[in-house]
Amino acid sequence: MTVYPGGAPEKSRASVPDLRSLVEGLTAYLETLRETGVKDIELDRETLHELGLAPVSAIPAPTPSPTPWREAAEQLAAIAREIAGCRRCPLHQTRTKTVPGQGCPQPDILFVGEGPGRDEDLQGLAFVGRAGALLTRMIKAMGLTRDEVFIANIVKCRPTVDGAGVRDRPPTPEEMAACLPYLRAQIAVLRPRVIITLGATALEGLLGLKGIKRQRGQWREYEGIPLMPTYHPSYLLRGGGDDTARYWEVWDDLVAVLTQLGRPTPMPAAVQRRDINTTASQ
Ligand code: URA
Repeated sequence: MTVYPGGAPEKSRASVPDLRSLVEGLTAYLETLRETGVKDIELDRETLHELGLAPVSAIPAPTPSPTPWREAAEQLAAIAREIAGCRRCPLHQTRTKTVPGQGCPQPDILFVGEGPGRDEDLQGLAFVGRAGALLTRMIKAMGLTRDEVFIANIVKCRPTVDGAGVRDRPPTPEEMAACLPYLRAQIAVLRPRVIITLGATALEGLLGLKGIKRQRGQWREYEGIPLMPTYHPSYLLRGGGDDTARYWEVWDDLVAVLTQLGRPTPMPAAVQRRDINTTASQ
């Protein structure tokens, strides 16, 4: 038995009737909660401490589990580190920087292009040159930002005609085959709801399909993920950029993607074209 020479400490001095009414009140409250379907009550460590049930230090702090978003970001960073040290094909000899791709680690949309050009090779970022500026406008017209999607390429190093960084060329089948495992690994982490391939190389690299003019606008699948093939922004630029027949074909493909995702769809190409033609003829 504990003897308190100066009387019991302050906190033990509540009278029995006080305690009884406290316990009765608490019991009634808990009964009401149970009747309304409450089965558990969570108390955080600070509240437990305030109730005098345990010192803060005795209650283990919850260990934060990494969010799926963060976990995906870390896995993508690990793939990017592997790419940075890659020597699987001769392109590593002439690259300035590897270009793993960038964007949201859990995106609705993954854009896949061909390979880095001069600007991308210098900056280590996908689609930052002229074609990238057009892609940015397309993404914006879809009601999205580049940070909300992921942008990658079939090959992660710049292919040039002579290796001296003068003129770009499409990657060879061997270069694509050497690099493809990286994109596959990225897709396994990203699990996008839709993949958009930009141009012939991306479509051939991912699905082995040739004939972009025939294939664009036709839904395909890559490992269960709906895939929409469309033209490459560079092809649009060669044909005059925005507001050309090619651009509006791409626009229709992007609207189909937005519909698939259940996102608000801006005006379809036919309506936009009609508005533009009406304005032009006034
Ligand atoms: N920039 C890229 O990152 N990829 C392309 O396919 C073209 C330009």
